[in-house]
Formats: sequence, structure tokens, C-alpha cells
Amino acid sequence: MTLNINPNKQAFLKGDIALVGAGPGDPDLLTLQAYRFINQADVAVYDRLVSDEIMALLPDGCEKIYVGKKQAVHKVPQERINEILVEQAQAGKRVVRLKGGDPFVFGRGGEEALHALAQGVACHIVPGMTAASSCAAYAGIPLTHRQVSRACTLITGHVQNDGSLDLPWTALQDKQQTIVFYMGVKTLKTIVEQLYLAGRDRHTPVALIQRGTTPQQKVVKGQLQDIVYLVEEHQIKPPTLIMIGDVVTTFDDHNIENLGYVTPASN
Ligand SMILES: C[S@@+](CC[C@H](N)C(=O)[O-])C[C@H]1O[C@@H](n2cnc3c(N)ncnc32)[C@H](O)[C@@H]1O
Repeated sequence: MTLNINPNKQAFLKGDIALVGAGPGDPDLLTLQAYRFINQADVAVYDRLVSDEIMALLPDGCEKIYVGKKQAVHKVPQERINEILVEQAQAGKRVVRLKGGDPFVFGRGGEEALHALAQGVACHIVPGMTAASSCAAYAGIPLTHRQVSRACTLITGHVQNDGSLDLPWTALQDKQQTIVFYMGVKTLKTIVEQLYLAGRDRHTPVALIQRGTTPQQKVVKGQLQDIVYLVEEHQIKPPTLIMIGDVVTTFDDHNIENLGYVTPASN
């Protein structure tokens, strides 16, 4: 069975599944390719992070199945989501699996595609803007910056099944490396402690970007030494992206408007 990794070249047939990246929230960040697939959906199986504006783009009569999860509250187990997708496809529908961000970045899209292929169902992969690049841009923070950051690591702060946060901490010690934590709000205290142990300075800048790219976007900046306190103070909740590294302060001396518009210096 085919994994269609160039969906522009493939027709979306009845009985196919398309894993469609819906981006981080702002409907402007939806790709034209995603829009084309959404437009043809007979049924949409969607997540909590897919915005209402994007849901409104589904065609009239499109069936909608919610399988969203909150951290630690898995409303529908992943195995069941995999089955729902295949059942809907085998019923002869064009199935759009709408996922926040990109389906292949902490989105379990790989598992869904593998299950579909194993059941003989063709699967299209439609990329989306992942939270790291889009939230960073909308907060006015470059992910990399010459002579400041030469690498960028996207990493999950979600605990393993045994409750531990088993991550390659020593690989995160390089000062010229931006670290972007997805799902890290709940484990931020452990993250900070482990980064100290790995050798990161307590003054390392940190940005929290809550509900990035949406009208509710909130950006809070601090340093490793005070960021846990700032989470409490500003009532930061998921979905929040955590950016760590000197890139965070790049534009601090400039007038940064919200929502991705960086104004030139006025001099
Ligand atoms: C299960 S992961 C899904 C990531 C998604 N597939 C992507 O590519 O962006 C969910 C986490 O992504 C981050 N995230 C997704 N959308 C976000 C947004 N609009 N603002 C801030 N963080 C976001 C948060 O860290 C959230 O806990």
C-alpha cells in the first residue's frame, strides 16, 4: 500500500486517509495543499489543537469526529484513533486526519500512517507548520542566529509511561544550541534542574509562548533561574512552547509587535 509523500502529485481518492498538518492555530498558516485536502474531506478526525477557523473550512456535510486529548487525559486511546481512521477509509470515505502543527512532529502521525498501510489503506502525508517555527516567528525569536545559535533541538518534555523524563541532557549543554521543548510546562522544574546539571548557565534566556499564533498568544520571557516562578505568576498552561537559548533576546531592543510583525528600528 502506498505512502503518498508528495500529495500534490496524488489524487485524494475515496478510501484514502490524509494526515493533514493544520498548523499551530492561525488559519493563515495553513498550506494551500492542506486546504485542498480539507476541501475534499468526507470525514474529518480532529484534535484539540485544530482551530475553529480551520474546522470551518471543512465542506458542508463533512462528518466530524473529535479525538482530542489533553495531557494525561487521553480521551480516545491512540490505538482506537488508528482504528477509527481505517474504519472510515474502509467505509469508502476520504478521511482527513487533522492534526495541530505538523503530523510528523510529536504528532503520532507515523503511527497512524503505519497502521493504515498495514491495513491496506493508502495514506497521504500533508505537512504543516510546526509550533517551533511558527510560534518562534510570531514571538519575534529566530530559531537560529549567526554567531548566537548554530543548532536547534526540538524535544519533548512529556514524561514517559513510568513518569520519568529520560532525555539526552548532556547533548543539550552547548550554549550555541537553541532548545525547543514541546509539552514541557508540567515538567519545567525538572528540565531546569537537568539543564543546570548539564552545564547550562542559570542566566540562559527562556521564552514561554502560550497559544502561539492565535489571538490569545502570550509570550513571557525570563531566564532559567526564574522561569518556573514565571509560569506560576503568569498562569501559563498548555499548549505552550518553551524556547531556551540566547536567541530569545535577539530583538529585545526593538519594538516587536505581536503576531509575527517585527518593526524596523526607529532611528
Ligand atoms: C502533541 S504536541 C503536537 C505538536 C504539533 N504536531 C506540531 O508540530 O506543532 C503538542 C505541543 O505542541 C506545542 N504547541 C502546539 N501548538 C502550539 C501553539 N499554538 N502554541 C504553543 N505551543 C504549541 C505545545 O508544546 C503542545 O503541548
